[in-house]
Amino acid sequence: MEVIIQKTANEASRLVASLITRELKIKPSLVLGLATGRTMEQVYAHLVKTHKEQALNFSRCRTFNLDEYVGIPADHPGSYRHYMDTCLFSHVNIAKRNTHLPDGTARNLAVECRKYERLINQCGGIDFQLLGIGHDGHIGFNEPLSALRSRTREKALTRDTLKRNAEMFGNNPDNVPRRAITMGVGTILESKRCVLLATGKNKALILSKAVEGPITSMISASALQLHPHCTIVVDEAAASKLRGVDYYRWLFVNEPEWQEFRARQSF
Ligand code: F6R
Repeated sequence: MEVIIQKTANEASRLVASLITRELKIKPSLVLGLATGRTMEQVYAHLVKTHKEQALNFSRCRTFNLDEYVGIPADHPGSYRHYMDTCLFSHVNIAKRNTHLPDGTARNLAVECRKYERLINQCGGIDFQLLGIGHDGHIGFNEPLSALRSRTREKALTRDTLKRNAEMFGNNPDNVPRRAITMGVGTILESKRCVLLATGKNKALILSKAVEGPITSMISASALQLHPHCTIVVDEAAASKLRGVDYYRWLFVNEPEWQEFRARQSF
């Protein structure tokens, strides 16, 4: 695991978008794992900008989102399909048939979950998995005590998650679906590369626990410590409770991978 600290949320998001851009140029048929949430909005805005200004080509890219609510249709403003269409898919040249989210309206959700896992495998597995982190340490919707080897499945959301995600549901947590389909922690760990983006001071405490604390199913993101190629990208605010910042900064300056990104930094 490595931690890359950028000055602002915008710079951290731009770095993540640049990583995706580079991967997509190297492998146009990239299998990209995607996340939703406020943190990701800026990443998608940067990708849309790169598509428009530099003709970044998504035509052969395949995507798999981490999660989707159970029981709401794709055109509901709170659905993650709607989020993805609005933030990314409808602004780039991606083929809709290549974009996958679990179907939370499927009659048999267990079958749908197995189908999702099969589809990921048929595409050769996820090359690059984008992740955010919840205040309880969830990745995807793997709420506390999700098994570290869990697969795509239905999961009950915590009250806190319902509250935090109420914005698209009339600001009323009671309107937020109580269950979601999510890739499991085990599914996520099988991705070839994981990149987690966290910004803002209210993510600082949970991030420090996930990155520098013990691996525990109470904090699903801590399982990323087991991943052989995982990069955590943060802004200064989210990094404020990390103990190893000196080393993380040294690493950004000295690791060859980051050379091309250093020049673009504002500090
Ligand atoms: C949603 C997802 C979640 C979010 C997390 C942070 O697809 O993967 O794990 O990344 O809840 O959300 P924000 O960015 O809104 O704080």
